[in-house]
Amino acid sequence: MIVRPRRLRRTPSIRDMVRETRLSIKDLIYPMFVRHGQGVQDPIPSMPGQFHYSVDTIVDAVENVHELGIPAIMLFGLPDRKDPTGSRSYAEDGVVQRAVSAIKRRTPDLTVITDVCLCEYTDHGHCGVLKDGDVDNDATLALLARQAVTHAAAGADLVAPSDMMDGRVAAIREALDREGYEEIGILSYAVKYASAFYGPFREAADSTPQFGDRSTYQMDPANAREGVKEALLDVEEGADMVMVKPALPYLDMVHRVRESCLLPLAAYNVSGEYAMIKAAEEKGWIDGTRVMMETLLSIKRAGADLILTYFAPEAAKHVSP
Ligand code: PBG
Repeated sequence: MIVRPRRLRRTPSIRDMVRETRLSIKDLIYPMFVRHGQGVQDPIPSMPGQFHYSVDTIVDAVENVHELGIPAIMLFGLPDRKDPTGSRSYAEDGVVQRAVSAIKRRTPDLTVITDVCLCEYTDHGHCGVLKDGDVDNDATLALLARQAVTHAAAGADLVAPSDMMDGRVAAIREALDREGYEEIGILSYAVKYASAFYGPFREAADSTPQFGDRSTYQMDPANAREGVKEALLDVEEGADMVMVKPALPYLDMVHRVRESCLLPLAAYNVSGEYAMIKAAEEKGWIDGTRVMMETLLSIKRAGADLILTYFAPEAAKHVSP
């Protein structure tokens, strides 16, 4: 007797019935960039279809995102000026802080997540303050905590530390609780690799390190067990959700973290993953829409509950409600 798996592939209806993974609009988080200025909506050359907005224009753009049914955005800021300690990152009138309160006024039901990091705000481009030419972990914690508190005060629903300092989740949790923001959650970039796939983002966020690289804080792409350890540490420190980043070259890590931790798991389909598909599509080498959907599906199939992706508005048209 021949075993015939093809029976369940015979018609669209049957295939639909036995489909194991479905992408929903509820799975998507859309990363967006806000900068200083007024009336700005500048295309980001390295990320076709993505823009730098100013506070006044991002409010309209976010309203459109909300109308598509996308439940959440992740916000990155480009400040008016940079300095050694990234002080514009924790200023009450900083660009992210102002954007969050404006967005929350217009679209209160949309979940606003803020990226907590110093690299877009420091003149040297590293994710923390420097001492003797390297990032000073413990001195950085206080600044990250301060930044997170100002985001919460502006109305952020969740803060998302992406700096990879040791102990940041605990430091941020403690500061939020102390200031009365115990209901504000932490989505930790727990398993974040030192990846070349961030290239287009660094151009977009103007956050390339001015010397050296991020390998003393971001993870070695060769390490899998260490990634699980990082995720479990952040769970212990009080994270509410954890993230694996990038997504596509690290689907094994999405799967491993899914198996070893109970929190909601996000994966970040980063700028380089987006740019590769866009570039190949522009050249006519791939069907961009199908490759986009297959990519997002693979991330969900690997075990992610949530996907941060620049494709969110485009994918919104192709996923289930
Ligand atoms: C750091 C940060 C980075 C990204 C998100 N947060 C860049 C980095 O670590 O250099 C990358 C996102 C992307 O590539 O889409 N604040």
